[in-house]
Amino acid sequence: MITRLQAFDLLNSKMTNKNLVRHCLSVEVVMRALAKCFKADEDKWAIVGLLHDGDYEFTKDDSRNHAKMMANWVRELGETDTELLEGIESHGWFHEGKLPKTQMQWSLFCCDELTGLIVACALVLPSKHLSDLSVESVLKKFPQKSFAAGAKREDIMHCEKELGINLSDFVQTSLSAMQQIALDIGL
Ligand SMILES: [Fe+2]
Ligand SMILES: [Fe+2]
Repeated sequence: MITRLQAFDLLNSKMTNKNLVRHCLSVEVVMRALAKCFKADEDKWAIVGLLHDGDYEFTKDDSRNHAKMMANWVRELGETDTELLEGIESHGWFHEGKLPKTQMQWSLFCCDELTGLIVACALVLPSKHLSDLSVESVLKKFPQKSFAAGAKREDIMHCEKELGINLSDFVQTSLSAMQQIALDIGL
């Protein structure tokens, strides 16, 4: 399997927007935390999270290729791990009306949107610091559809049925994970 360093170098060679890289780092750390909860392969889940949006600057006008292009770049590095490659590709499936199939893919699906909501919640705090954000305040903003409208609540809610984690615990796990890398993501 490719190393974290290879994955990080690949991401940085394809993505120039700092905020997008921060989003990828957020999803990486949350995927690692979720893998730990499920006693799954933490390094593999983390790499899938790190790379899921890595081709965005190349595919933003060609959404059907989103995530597929990244999976191909990873293949070109010699990667053959089907779970890893399909994990990345699964991020683009919704464009084809396909749903995630595995626990890893559902984790990516749900936490992708939640990381955006958490960032938005932090940015409206006076300090703008993730360390000052509570689970309660994320949960309070959750039903406010006009707040961070791009963070699809219905996608996040799949954590309950598909992952068996209630929303409050899902927010707790994700927020704690992101707090560990607050400096790296500028929060
Ligand atoms: Fe994406
Ligand atoms: Fe994403």
